[in-house]
Amino acid sequence: MDQVAFNTRYQTYLTAIESYLQSLFMEQPHWVDLYESMRYSILAGGKRIRPVLTLEFAHLSGMDWHDAVPVACALELVHTYSLIHDDLPCMDDDDLRRGKPTNHKVYGETLAVLAGDALQPEAYRLILTAPKLTAEQKVHCAQILSKVSGADGMVAGQVIDTLHAPRTQEALAEVHHLKTGAMIAGACMLGVAAAGGSEKALLAAEEYGYQLGLAFQVRDDMLDVIGTEEFGKPIGSDQEEGKVTYVDLLGLNGCETMVRKTTDAAVQAVSTYDTDSFLTALAENLVHRSK
Ligand code: IPE
Ligand code: IPE
Ligand code: MG
Ligand code: MG
Ligand code: MG
Repeated sequence: MDQVAFNTRYQTYLTAIESYLQSLFMEQPHWVDLYESMRYSILAGGKRIRPVLTLEFAHLSGMDWHDAVPVACALELVHTYSLIHDDLPCMDDDDLRRGKPTNHKVYGETLAVLAGDALQPEAYRLILTAPKLTAEQKVHCAQILSKVSGADGMVAGQVIDTLHAPRTQEALAEVHHLKTGAMIAGACMLGVAAAGGSEKALLAAEEYGYQLGLAFQVRDDMLDVIGTEEFGKPIGSDQEEGKVTYVDLLGLNGCETMVRKTTDAAVQAVSTYDTDSFLTALAENLVHRSK
């Protein structure tokens, strides 16, 4: 797939995702401050890589991808909550996210914690009320989302990252697998599950997601050192927090090699499914990303 075709399809998915997310939490209850804080982070302009992956995997598994939009956005709500909490003073203590002040800088810590809290059950509501999914598909999607984001998934990664001071390559690989790989793999698997796809497709989606997630997080750690304003996050935050990253262990060149290797492994995992090469193009675009 050439770059123009890739951009067009990405944009089509993005438009559907943005329009669905725009429609959420529009009411004006007298606790509208909560809604505002949630909408602030949901609509702050993320890249939407995870929901795009869900939609592509749903499409590859034979579903009309439009019907998978609620499920794709459910994971994006959980991702958004993880970022709000990740930026809190008790975690990474960051002031900038997606080029804007972080949620707690605008709304205060209490509302930032509560907005993150609310986003989690609301994500499951989106799955449970998805109009075109069977009960079985909803259960499968909810199982996947809870597993990748829960106590043995993303949150476990956050605990090790922030509290256990991982310092070896092995320990960092585990952190990346859990805190980043799990959610990206989950996004891919959700697309297959929403479509009622095969066990084999599910395994391929999982492997692609974990390899892509590792490449993604190593690139993210590189950008924490060499990124520019475009990155939209503070530069040098990891070092300031005293974190050891792959950049410390392998150097920038070693990181580049690792991103290349894991990207190739991701592409290899879906070689029989990626019929239009969109997944390949997406992985390749992330290798040199600057934001
Ligand atoms: C940020 O994820 C958190 C990491 C796993 C590095 P993204 O870089 O996908 O963040 P947004 O959603 O585009 O802001
Ligand atoms: C956080 O990793 C990943 C999450 C689960 C939120 P980082 O702490 O490195 O992410 P950024 O750099 O703040 O986006
Ligand atoms: Mg963090
Ligand atoms: Mg952080
Ligand atoms: Mg980071």
